[in-house]
Amino acid sequence: MNIQIENLTFRYPNGVLALRGVSLHIASGELVAIIGQNGAGKTTLVKHLNGLLLPSQGRVLIGDWDTRQYSVAKLAQRVGYVFQNPDEQLFTKTVADEIAFGPRNLGYPKERIETLVEDALHLTHLETMRSMNPYDLSPTWRKMVAVASILAMDTPILVFDEPTTGQDAASVARLASIIAELRRRGKTVLTITHDIDFCAENFERVIVMGGGQVLLDGTAKDVLGQEEILAQTYVDPPQITRLGLRLGLTEVVCTPQEFLDAFERRCSA
Ligand SMILES: Nc1ncnc2c1ncn2[C@@H]1O[C@H](COP(=O)(O)OP(=O)(O)OP(=O)(O)O)[C@@H](O)[C@H]1O
Ligand SMILES: [Mg+2]
Repeated sequence: MNIQIENLTFRYPNGVLALRGVSLHIASGELVAIIGQNGAGKTTLVKHLNGLLLPSQGRVLIGDWDTRQYSVAKLAQRVGYVFQNPDEQLFTKTVADEIAFGPRNLGYPKERIETLVEDALHLTHLETMRSMNPYDLSPTWRKMVAVASILAMDTPILVFDEPTTGQDAASVARLASIIAELRRRGKTVLTITHDIDFCAENFERVIVMGGGQVLLDGTAKDVLGQEEILAQTYVDPPQITRLGLRLGLTEVVCTPQEFLDAFERRCSA
């Protein structure tokens, strides 16, 4: 399902102009990272995808649905959104109930709900915690519950707002494998992140935001080598990319493996 954002401008009631004419097309099955400094407008942008916010000007289409014409409940059939803070999202007494809430609310049949809950528990490694109260879990696992509860809704589009913040290495690796699995399943995945290595290693397309606008939009290689523009929004390229640039490698590298390959080619040239 395609996402079409046309000349989107958004002003909060207090007058803050958080988005200034953002236009983006995101095709079905794309894996997209959104990066940029605090206050750049990333969360404001993605909250337009499920109708939590509506454009002040411009429009947002999810498939053929204009978000101004559909309720948040209806848009939840198409877009799952994992909040920046899981505590804004969790409210039931057990992990399994929390995960079942979304698909139940979407009116899926009982067997499908059971299958989806098991799949989400499995993907997030939460099987053994299914009967626990989410609030008895560590913040790391609470985040996983928030992720699982969105996975179980089986929407074509999933949005993760800073999933890696405050997560340990094991949890970050788990998130990376969940995103890879979603890609295999043909889902569209948008992820806001401040973790530039996570961005470089897991996403094909990178959108850079600053001051409510899109500053850069392209492949990770195209975008992460542009040190000067990234600096405008206080983003440093990954260390490995900077090392490659300093060494004068002719191509931009985003991961250690790409660095090694490019370095080897230079040595043998
Ligand atoms: N509820 C709100 N009311 C008024 N202004 C807001 C509100 N939420 C965000 N803003 C302002 O809108 C701008 C964009 O904020 P937004 O939360 O979208 O940024 P962000 O890129 O997600 O930042 P962060 O990386 O800190 O999460 C900022 O200037 C912010 O202060
Ligand atoms: Mg945010």
